[in-house]
Amino acid sequence: MPLPVRNNRAMNQVVLATANPHKVDEMRAIFSELLPGFVIRGLADAAPVPLPEPPETGKTFLENATIKAVAYARATGQACLADDSGLEIDALGGRPGVISSHYCTDGREAGMTRSQRDSANNQRVLTELRGVSPEDRTGRFVCVMVIADPTGKVLATARGEFPGRIGEDGQVPRGAHGFGYDPLFLVGPEFDRTSSELDPSTKNRLSHRRKAAEQLARIIQSL
Ligand code: IMP
Repeated sequence: MPLPVRNNRAMNQVVLATANPHKVDEMRAIFSELLPGFVIRGLADAAPVPLPEPPETGKTFLENATIKAVAYARATGQACLADDSGLEIDALGGRPGVISSHYCTDGREAGMTRSQRDSANNQRVLTELRGVSPEDRTGRFVCVMVIADPTGKVLATARGEFPGRIGEDGQVPRGAHGFGYDPLFLVGPEFDRTSSELDPSTKNRLSHRRKAAEQLARIIQSL
């Protein structure tokens, strides 16, 4: 259900500070439902030359999302929305957390494609959880979103979580949709399917990105 329009001077577009095409698709799908008419522009549209990626040196999702939103808003001269997301696994003390995208390589991923990196990350998680019982394989996807203006001022922050369990080796990886750890991540009341087996519109109704976007949409309307 779209949110009612309360403020006709509300911010009506942002640049999405990510190079991950899956995230662009998910965010566009989610925001088009929540805030019809709100425009999400890709970085390539907003900047004639590729911008250097700021180093994600934060220890939390909020710190990293803020680093990206502020750097890209200053570089493009436009309001930027950045998200930082990842998987927290309780039995691993919250890892991979902020290093979810390069867990397998500890930063040395040169030459790997995104999908090679995703499968290696997944393999590392399955190896580390060997011997852990299904009930103790709990975790959550977390997404933090930040909007910054071109002066570097943070205008809005929001956080969403998507709880689930990591399947066991042999039972997962499974599924044809999504990205990253989706093929391992069992969801629903019965934990009987992975988030990679959900069709994209179902994932977009339940996901951490959806929950963060709902909070952010409310804030955007009041800006
Ligand atoms: P970021 O680009 O630094 O936010 O990295 C996010 C990483 O967390 C991704 O590369 C994935 O490994 C993982 N991740 C975040 N959201 C999802 C999701 O919806 N499904 C599967 N993996 C995710």
